[in-house]
Amino acid sequence: MRTAAVDLTTQYLGLTLRSPLVASAGPLTGEVGSVSRLVSAGVGAVVLPSLFEEEILAGEVADRYLANLERIRLAVDVPVIASLNATSVGGWSRYAQMVSAAGADALELNVYRVVANPYLSAADVEAATLEVVAEVCRVATVPVAVKLSPYHSAMASFAAEVVRAGASGLVLFNRFYQPDIDLEAMDVECRLELSTSVELRLPLRWIALLRPQLPDPVSLAATSGVHSGEDAAKAIAVGADAVMMTSELLRSGPDRVSGVEAELRSFLAEHDYESASQLRASVSRVTAEAGEAFERANYIATLRSWDGPDIHSL
Ligand SMILES: Cc1cc2nc3c(=O)[nH]c(=O)nc-3n(C[C@H](O)[C@H](O)[C@H](O)COP(=O)(O)O)c2cc1C
Repeated sequence: MRTAAVDLTTQYLGLTLRSPLVASAGPLTGEVGSVSRLVSAGVGAVVLPSLFEEEILAGEVADRYLANLERIRLAVDVPVIASLNATSVGGWSRYAQMVSAAGADALELNVYRVVANPYLSAADVEAATLEVVAEVCRVATVPVAVKLSPYHSAMASFAAEVVRAGASGLVLFNRFYQPDIDLEAMDVECRLELSTSVELRLPLRWIALLRPQLPDPVSLAATSGVHSGEDAAKAIAVGADAVMMTSELLRSGPDRVSGVEAELRSFLAEHDYESASQLRASVSRVTAEAGEAFERANYIATLRSWDGPDIHSL
């Protein structure tokens, strides 16, 4: 089959995307010039950088964000997804209404939070997040996706609760940046490292586990560690509707989208798939053991799979 004949169309948050490859929130999605390049290179949608409530409180950031959103919306013909990261329920719902009115096609909630308070339980934190999701979904006039953290003791249950609260999709996962220590300055050092493909394993596992357990119209997007067409194919095979990239595009430039698309098309054509949707969820659907492989059995098998040098030769 010719690679050009492969159909990449996907449904994400009720939107029809020409390609599952989406530029996730990051510096390249924040200005018209680089967004236009991403769109020319083939992205199916773009997620704008997050509007952070802390920044809004510090200045006129909200007006600038909305003006930028409108500019980008007018400049490109793919869906534009706004991203919010608020701290108060009132803040979340106010900005959700504003970005919906400014023409965003969908909304992504970045619920990034590091909870260090020993008196705040997991149940309290999850209840607060669910309250925000329910309120935003109530006031937003566009579909809402929630970008989750992987750090939940009962991930599947929480994911299902987020969906019950009204989310149309889940973005798995938010990538946490761990600060380092600068020993010379004896200070905390915040240095952002770009991801590698190894990090894709976490979203792969959870998309594979969640896909069969969530209602099918719920969209799932993979983020963290997508660097190639093969990575994208893996994410789609476990059930992702959209496959997001930031690090790869920052490292190689916006035009890299067309290379990743070409790699994805070649994979699909070489394996006789007529479309990306034919590949979608084929791992969790076809391989009966796949669910198990992603659960505990996989832990033992992975430990046993180590085949480095004989330990006695070390
Ligand atoms: C420089 C930079 C800025 C980012 N800004 C945001 C942001 O504003 N909001 C957000 O939800 N994620 C943000 N992200 C996270 C990305 O959207 C993405 O989820 C993460 O980098 C993992 O994907 P990757 O492995 O393709 O980089 C940012 C990432 C980078 C590297």
